[in-house]
Amino acid sequence: MELQTNVDYPYLRQLVFGLSQNVLDPSRDYLFETRLTKVLRNQGLSHLDELVRLLKRRKDPMLERSIAEAMTINETSFFRDARPFELLRTDLLPKLIEARRHVRSLRFWSAACSTGQEGYSLAMLMTEHFPLLAGWNIRIEGTDIAAEMVVRAEAGAYHRIEMNRGLPARFVVRYFDHHGEDWVVKPEIKKMCNFRQANLCAPQLPFNRMDDRFDVIFLRNVMLYFSQETRRALLANVHKVLAPDGILFLGSSEQPADPSIWTSVLAGGTCHFRPRQAN
Ligand SMILES: C[S@@+](CC[C@H](N)C(=O)[O-])C[C@H]1O[C@@H](n2cnc3c(N)ncnc32)[C@H](O)[C@@H]1O
Repeated sequence: MELQTNVDYPYLRQLVFGLSQNVLDPSRDYLFETRLTKVLRNQGLSHLDELVRLLKRRKDPMLERSIAEAMTINETSFFRDARPFELLRTDLLPKLIEARRHVRSLRFWSAACSTGQEGYSLAMLMTEHFPLLAGWNIRIEGTDIAAEMVVRAEAGAYHRIEMNRGLPARFVVRYFDHHGEDWVVKPEIKKMCNFRQANLCAPQLPFNRMDDRFDVIFLRNVMLYFSQETRRALLANVHKVLAPDGILFLGSSEQPADPSIWTSVLAGGTCHFRPRQAN
């Protein structure tokens, strides 16, 4: 795609970085053209340079946020990368269930949940394979910086193409209702999940109650857009909200920055992380 030469792309990149900490590579400046079409239309503008001039002229936090959100990459699918889910099913969840049998409660966090498939995959996995959890308090929190993604996650309505990615056929029949063009997650699955907007790079994580920590955190395929410094700060915060025997999954190409607070465990053809306790 041809770049508009008169556009101040460094200004746009800096704006996105300031709000979401996403580092955009200059070689992908063309993405501004495609992703900001709707923002331009909503502002009654036809060119990116007009948008930049508008932003420079007057502070508009809503408009700035909509730009940062439009530039996020929201790629996801049900049971993405399969192995973490398989390892949970065969090994990690049975042990966690045993460890929590007195409190009968488990908390999961799908951090950077995009359109919700990760959270719903966890809910379906537990419903399908661990019927004894029916009487437990199971909470799956999903958060994402992009408001539009959170709305979609809450709706739990998926198109055929999204359903065909990673979802076993019997899950479609058991856990979805067919509404027109879409399949909608059944209420029994939906009620286990709660979605809300949150920026992982804000000074405080959206969850900070030390007495209510997570048992499993999925922080997958989001840190690759962050700088090393942002990753380090985020992982230090995540460490604080994970139970001492909790489990962290990152994306398959992501590593925690600080081995002094994380132990990596290779199992089931994948890697997960355990918090190391301070001595
Ligand atoms: C590629 S998706 C990953 C979705 C899911 N975790 C997975 O692995 O399939 C990355 C998501 O991170 C979100 N994101 C990017 N920057 C964020 C930030 N600073 N705080 C919270 N979410 C962010 C994006 O909106 C996007 O939906």
